[in-house]
Amino acid sequence: MLQSRASFVMGIHVLLKVNVSVDIEVGYIRLVREIENKMLEKKNLLISLVLGVFLITTLMILYGNYQLDGNSNSDVGSSTTTTTSVTTGQSIHKSKKQKSKPTPPPKPPLVTFMVLTADDFKETRTKAIRESWAPRALAMGWRIFYYSETDQGSPHDTIATNETDKSSYGNDKKQWMAWDHMESVENPSPFYMKVDDDAYVFVDRLKRTLEGLDPSGIKMYGRCDDFFWEPKPFCDGGSGIILTREALQAMVRWHNEGKCKDTGHNDLSTSWCMVDNGVKLTYIPGLHGDPPNDWKELANDVTWHHLNPDDLRRIDRLFYD
Ligand SMILES: *[C@@H]1O[C@H](CO)[C@@H](O)[C@H](O)[C@H]1NC(C)=O
Repeated sequence: MLQSRASFVMGIHVLLKVNVSVDIEVGYIRLVREIENKMLEKKNLLISLVLGVFLITTLMILYGNYQLDGNSNSDVGSSTTTTTSVTTGQSIHKSKKQKSKPTPPPKPPLVTFMVLTADDFKETRTKAIRESWAPRALAMGWRIFYYSETDQGSPHDTIATNETDKSSYGNDKKQWMAWDHMESVENPSPFYMKVDDDAYVFVDRLKRTLEGLDPSGIKMYGRCDDFFWEPKPFCDGGSGIILTREALQAMVRWHNEGKCKDTGHNDLSTSWCMVDNGVKLTYIPGLHGDPPNDWKELANDVTWHHLNPDDLRRIDRLFYD
């Protein structure tokens, strides 16, 4: 367009040189240019207008969608003044609901706990856990299951294993039912941790510990060692055994296939289930098999074991009061 106009003006210029009536030609050229400029201005204006309208419409649509996602509730709430607006509000709400994606599943807890206990200890040990570190773990969004023979209901509710054998072999069976339950529970977590009912868990330090562990693959973490008094390495179960999701699944499967032997010590039974099926146990620091002995242990350890119920409350007060 511009080029053809330029050549047209050039043509006039050539004409101008040849022609005698210069003034008329110059006037004509000016006239043509003015008309052309006017037309060009109009066209630009029109293009700008169309583009502007398009842009504003796009922005309004985008903003509208954004609002639909964020403010659907307040829309309905604010339109309760008249019946008509209520129905409009509801129908808007409906169409919004259809548009929005299904709600995502709740964020999985970083860790799911197994507290292995017994009916005899519900008033003492598990009560102390519920009054010390358990609320802090729940506040982290974590999950705790207490397993006992029966469920005596609130406030001591536990998961009933119905295991009546009170010997250590009965405890093994109770533990396998507990692992089974942990494995099948919805919204799986990357880590599963078993502690005894006389252990204190320092949740803030555990969080840091877990965040440093690899959650993939079949791994058992804990106070695992080649303890001289046992023929095979194992992880101490009182101060905490930590399993990855895959390890829990594999362990439950191996147990169901009869590939694990009960020993009468629940930590040996789980550890050797892993060892006998080719898993190398992974030692991590900070899990302590005894009550704290000095300030260094208090300042660094993640768990302590063999505490009485009052010790649990005392340690909790020490750090959080
Ligand atoms: C224990 O017994 C109760 C009541 O009979 C039953 O509902 C529950 O499923 C049983 N639990 C297990 C693990 O078998």
